[in-house]
Amino acid sequence: MLIVLNHKMNLTKEEVVAYEKIIREKTYDDTLVVCPSIAYLPYFQGENYKLGSQIVSQYDGGSHTGEVSAKQLRSLNVSHCLVGHSETRKDHNETELELNKKIKVLLKNGIIPILCIGETQEERDQNKAEDVLTRDLRNCLRELSKEEISKVIVAYEPIWAIGSGNVPSNETIEQTVSMIKTFIEEQYQESVKVLYGGSINKHNYTILKTIFNVDGFLIGGFGLDVQGIQEMLEI
Ligand code: PGA
Repeated sequence: MLIVLNHKMNLTKEEVVAYEKIIREKTYDDTLVVCPSIAYLPYFQGENYKLGSQIVSQYDGGSHTGEVSAKQLRSLNVSHCLVGHSETRKDHNETELELNKKIKVLLKNGIIPILCIGETQEERDQNKAEDVLTRDLRNCLRELSKEEISKVIVAYEPIWAIGSGNVPSNETIEQTVSMIKTFIEEQYQESVKVLYGGSINKHNYTILKTIFNVDGFLIGGFGLDVQGIQEMLEI
């Protein structure tokens, strides 16, 4: 299981130092990836967990004020990076073409992209979820080699489930994950890991964990509760 914690724009330096001290004390059976705010990447250099970034520039380097390159992330021991989270798509008006460039630049620098995809409530109600998800996958994974595809991780995060307390049924998640895996196998003859994300907490985690085809979880708000996360990982 892969457990990815997305801290978003939370925590102060003091809180981050205290948080890191707690997670570095344990060993985890699952692979744990912590994605703090990029300001705090240097504070997360423990060896018992992996480090993820929440953002990356589509550019290799050069004059791009306010951006961070994949090469810079790599130099801070970043192994994973979120791409296309619904919040960054909205805040930065990211297009699928930009996301495709970000995935390519990450792979070139040896960082695993975690491509976040998900439908809105309206799209689900109108039975458009499959179309929306497959269009996004096709555009974001354009022109990737079979070998590159096999390194990408997909996170299925229904937009209506993020931070809302609403979680799809296990059946809905299982069907959607299966659809994503089948689409990628048919298009690229490769298999990928698929995570679920959206309103996961200590209580619903035990139910979500029983979904047989999910390879891990992307956790936002609950990931800020370091004790809660450790208790969850011990279940
Ligand atoms: P949430 O966020 O767990 O707070 O719903 C998930 C995410 O945004 O990745």
